[in-house]
Amino acid sequence: MRKLILFTFLIFLVATINAINSPHGAKLKVACAVCHTTENWSKIKENGFNHNTTKFPLVGQHKMVDCRKCHTSLDFSKATTNCASCHTDIHEGTVGNDCASCHKTNSWIVTNIRQIHRQQGFPLLGEHAAADCNRCHTSASALRFNNIRTDCYSCHQFQYENTIKPNHKTSGFGTDCERCHNMAGVSWNLIGKGFDHGVFPLTGAHNIACENCHFENNYSVKLSTECSSCHSPGPANTTSPVHTTKFLKFACNDCHNTTSWSNGIKFIQHDGSYGRIYSGKHKGKWNSCTDCHNNDAAYVANCLKCHNFSSGSLDEN
Ligand code: HEC
Ligand code: HEC
Ligand code: HEC
Ligand code: HEC
Ligand code: HEC
Ligand code: HEC
Ligand code: HEC
Ligand code: HEC
Ligand code: HEC
Ligand code: HEC
Ligand code: HEC
Ligand code: HEC
Repeated sequence: MRKLILFTFLIFLVATINAINSPHGAKLKVACAVCHTTENWSKIKENGFNHNTTKFPLVGQHKMVDCRKCHTSLDFSKATTNCASCHTDIHEGTVGNDCASCHKTNSWIVTNIRQIHRQQGFPLLGEHAAADCNRCHTSASALRFNNIRTDCYSCHQFQYENTIKPNHKTSGFGTDCERCHNMAGVSWNLIGKGFDHGVFPLTGAHNIACENCHFENNYSVKLSTECSSCHSPGPANTTSPVHTTKFLKFACNDCHNTTSWSNGIKFIQHDGSYGRIYSGKHKGKWNSCTDCHNNDAAYVANCLKCHNFSSGSLDEN
């Protein structure tokens, strides 16, 4: 029993002396021999302590760095994992403190420039990808990335003011370039695919080259959106049915869509002023306008095609 007490005391003594000798603070739970050899205190075992067990695995260039460069105080728990706590912010506060969002530990070279721009809502495409960084990032130092604006006008005001074909100002075009020009950054003449054509959407057969309507690409001439301003039912297409007697008091798009002249005809005023055919008893009971209308110039409705009113019954012919 006495021996045991003495033994315990010795262990305690050794531990205390060790703790006193240790520059690593009392909290370190790792045995001295994991890192140290009997040679001297500054020679550290190469594969001793497994740093990957900490919150900060040593990867990239950090594998080559002396323990002491990061653990200057030798109290290991004092080191912080945030890159900015050890590395000076060369960007002088212009990109924030989250260095790891752009940098890895193997080198400071940034490999995700495109991704960074996409995330900022300004993908680098076309000429934008080819341009030197400092064409856009005009800060005094190459490593300062002061916030710049992403709207086209902020960088291309000069081009806007010098447009000739068409002259944007006299054509009344706004400075919201994105409405008409796309982000591809290739050429101003490549109008965006999803071009927002405003009140006159380019649907159906109108999804064609601009100059079909804007002759010689002269956008200064204001076009009418009335179908009949571009389409007139000439002699060839007035026969079936004849348009001139009854139809032309209506707008073409009261009946037609922009996809085809012969399909999908819907006379939108029918149920309003001319009897219900899209609702009521006749809904779904006919296939073609000519079920009721004789396809002649008079274009009157012929009920007798289906009804035999004299017998008072509905006898389909
Ligand atoms: C996780 C690894 C590790 C453990 C465990 C460890 N040490 Fe160290 N120790 C080091 C490192 C690294 C140094 C700095 C070596 C150098 O000079 O680069 C160091 C340095 C020292 C020094 C020299 C201090 C100086 O100012 O140069 C002493 C003394 C020392 N350790 C004692 C201890 C004792 C006692 C223990 C056990 C309680 C211990 N160490 C446990 C890694 C460790
Ligand atoms: C590039 C910097 C860097 C280098 C080099 C480095 N460390 Fe660390 N070390 C850290 C950081 C950061 C932590 C995380 C501290 C934490 O847990 O918050 C850490 C944690 C530790 C811990 C755990 C501390 C604790 O309280 O959990 C030990 C032990 C340690 N390091 C020992 C070493 C030894 C031994 C070496 C050399 C072989 C070394 N480190 C090299 C940065 C470094
Ligand atoms: C605990 C301190 C510490 C932390 C945290 C830290 N580093 Fe380091 N890092 C160093 C030290 C020390 C070096 C060795 C070079 C030196 O002395 O500056 C180094 C070297 C590097 C290098 C090699 C190029 C050079 O400057 O020599 C890169 C790249 C690097 N670190 C990136 C990072 C990144 C990215 C982070 C965050 C994910 C980070 N570091 C976090 C201390 C740290
Ligand atoms: C938004 C992205 C971004 C963030 C965040 C960022 N950097 Fe950078 N950093 C860059 C770019 C871009 C470069 C230029 C290097 C290149 O062109 O590959 C650079 C370069 C560097 C360089 C090398 C400078 C040289 O002379 O070559 C260091 C060092 C550096 N950054 C440190 C940091 C530190 C430290 C932080 C955190 C405080 C940080 N960076 C945050 C994007 C970033
Ligand atoms: C055509 C113009 C343009 C070019 C060329 C360009 N950038 Fe950018 N960059 C921008 C815009 C616009 C933003 C987003 C606005 C902002 O964050 O200031 C941005 C954002 C950034 C950011 C993020 C800044 C932040 O605040 O987080 C970094 C870093 C960056 N660019 C680096 C570069 C580097 C490096 C190059 C050259 C390889 C480059 N850029 C080329 C326009 C450009
Ligand atoms: C931060 C500044 C910046 C912003 C924002 C910007 N650009 Fe650019 N753009 C440039 C630079 C720099 C070039 C390279 C051509 C040059 O040398 O002038 C360029 C080139 C172009 C080109 C190639 C033709 C030419 O003029 O050289 C087009 C097209 C273009 N940009 C369209 C746009 C559109 C559309 C937007 C908005 C979605 C936009 N840009 C936003 C800076 C910018
Ligand atoms: C309402 C639509 C619209 C808006 C808004 C618009 N553009 Fe255009 N832009 C056009 C059309 C259409 C063309 C002629 C395309 C063609 O000829 O293929 C054109 C052509 C251009 C051209 C080449 C023609 C020339 O004379 O140089 C430039 C440069 C240009 N736009 C710059 C801009 C800039 C910069 C903005 C924003 C500040 C802008 N545009 C806003 C429709 C627009
Ligand atoms: C099918 C005929 C047609 C086609 C094809 C067409 N446009 Fe138009 N465009 C019109 C009509 C009609 C208007 C007048 C709409 C209005 O009153 O706003 C118009 C108006 C415009 C305007 C002036 C709108 C404004 O907000 O100032 C621009 C710019 C324009 N078109 C550009 C284009 C471009 C670029 C294309 C090719 C992608 C194109 N258009 C194709 C018929 C067409
Ligand atoms: C600014 C002139 C313009 C206006 C306004 C216009 N169109 Fe067109 N439309 C065209 C051009 C150009 C074409 C293609 C050439 C052609 O087939 O005549 C076309 C083609 C069509 C076609 C396909 C013709 C075929 O033969 O396949 C239909 C259907 C059509 N338009 C319907 C309409 C309707 C409905 C309206 C009114 C909502 C309308 N268009 C207004 C210029 C115009
Ligand atoms: C009240 C409805 C109505 C109105 C308004 C109307 N159409 Fe029609 N249109 C028709 C019907 C019904 C047909 C026959 C479709 C079919 O079955 O082929 C037709 C056929 C056509 C055809 C094809 C004729 C053929 O021979 O293939 C053209 C072209 C046409 N319309 C152009 C126009 C134009 C342009 C306008 C405006 C000026 C217009 N339509 C107004 C109902 C209308
Ligand atoms: C179920 C029978 C029925 C069908 C189907 C029908 N109509 Fe009618 N339509 C009528 C009746 C009833 C009238 C009003 C009496 C009249 O003027 O003959 C009328 C009137 C009209 C008128 C006005 C004629 C005028 O004298 O002003 C036009 C135009 C017309 N229809 C076009 C169409 C077109 C185009 C279709 C096919 C999309 C169609 N109708 C399908 C029954 C029908
Ligand atoms: C394409 C064939 C067709 C044509 C043409 C037609 N109808 Fe009908 N009509 C029907 C059908 C089918 C019903 C539904 C019978 C039912 O559901 O009981 C109906 C129902 C009716 C009813 C309701 C009868 C009841 O018993 O409730 C009336 C009234 C009527 N039609 C009048 C007319 C008039 C007036 C015309 C000429 C403008 C006309 N129809 C042209 C097929 C037609």
